[in-house]
Amino acid sequence: MEFINQLKAKAKANKKTIVLPEGEEERTLKAADIIIGEGFANIILIGNPEVIAESKAKYGLGNIEKATVVNPLSNDKKEDYINLLLELRRSKGLTEEKAATLVEDPLYLATLMIKNGDADGEVAGALNATGDVLRPAFQIVKTLPGISVVSGAFIMIMKDKEFGDNGMMVFADCAVHPNPTASELAEIAVTTGKTTKSIAGIEPRIAMLSFSTKGSAKHEMVDKVREATELAQKMAPEMKIDGEMQADAAIIPAIGKSKAPDSEIAGKANVLVFPTLETGNISYKLVQRMAGAEAIGPVLQGMAAPINDLSRGCSVSDIVNLVAITATQAAGLV
Ligand code: ACO
Repeated sequence: MEFINQLKAKAKANKKTIVLPEGEEERTLKAADIIIGEGFANIILIGNPEVIAESKAKYGLGNIEKATVVNPLSNDKKEDYINLLLELRRSKGLTEEKAATLVEDPLYLATLMIKNGDADGEVAGALNATGDVLRPAFQIVKTLPGISVVSGAFIMIMKDKEFGDNGMMVFADCAVHPNPTASELAEIAVTTGKTTKSIAGIEPRIAMLSFSTKGSAKHEMVDKVREATELAQKMAPEMKIDGEMQADAAIIPAIGKSKAPDSEIAGKANVLVFPTLETGNISYKLVQRMAGAEAIGPVLQGMAAPINDLSRGCSVSDIVNLVAITATQAAGLV
């Protein structure tokens, strides 16, 4: 895919270190071997060095020796990480005993490595559920200044090139925050606009979706989206954001024209912001399966350092691609 190749080239020019906490896992190891070979990120694998060495021989992974391997049970910085974790979470009731156990959990260790400056980003989820990848990230890495909520965007490559920008669209939030308030939804719109520009490489035209277009229905759920639209427009006056609108008014020019004639976005949206996680997650999966779109992501946005979550059904190339996205985010290009 052309845009992934462009991201790899950007990441290569400003090479960052990405930690893979599921470092013993077959697809992760094969992906790490490819990434090191292509040279667009430095890789840290968390796992038992002996198991990793066995897999290296078994799968013929010639580049893996260039990865840094960190054993979660015993490593030089274990005490530092315990102290860092205590510093961050003592006020939340974390005990020394619990901290000593948590630093041996690869998902916690990876986020502590980022917080300590030993890694710039993380990709996980080939073995672990989304919530388990995200919880330590939220607790330790936390959000960017001025952002209170992390969300997940999908870059959708549509078969029908009439939609979005030559078939490219961005959907959010499809992965993280179940029921955002109006101000959280506004933040999600603005961070998605930034992701659209920096990762998808297109100028965002953001539609805030609802079951109403410009007041056609009255309901508190519609009010939330209308309020979020106004807040997002104030947060990022330079961005093209409009709503509330229905999905057909957002993406079909004739319907956009008749339902929202004064809108710059209606009928031309390339970014769809959904009012809840339910609607976003269901929609991206339906478009992926029924329209045959390629769904790249979720790209997590709003975190103080990039941490991205894989689907457990991911392929080796999905991991390579998500590391390319994460390395680009880490290079500050987002
Ligand atoms: N952004 C930033 N911080 C957050 C967010 C968020 N969206 N949500 C929770 N937090 C923080 C909390 O403030 C809290 O921080 P603190 O401990 O320092 O006070 C910490 O994270 C834990 O908060 P909880 O409320 O205990 O969160 P919980 O662990 O219950 O859930 C989670 C967070 C895991 C992200 C939850 O919202 C979730 O499961 N979301 C759905 C994920 C999912 O299953 N997605 C669908 C699959 S993905 C796909 O299909 C592509």
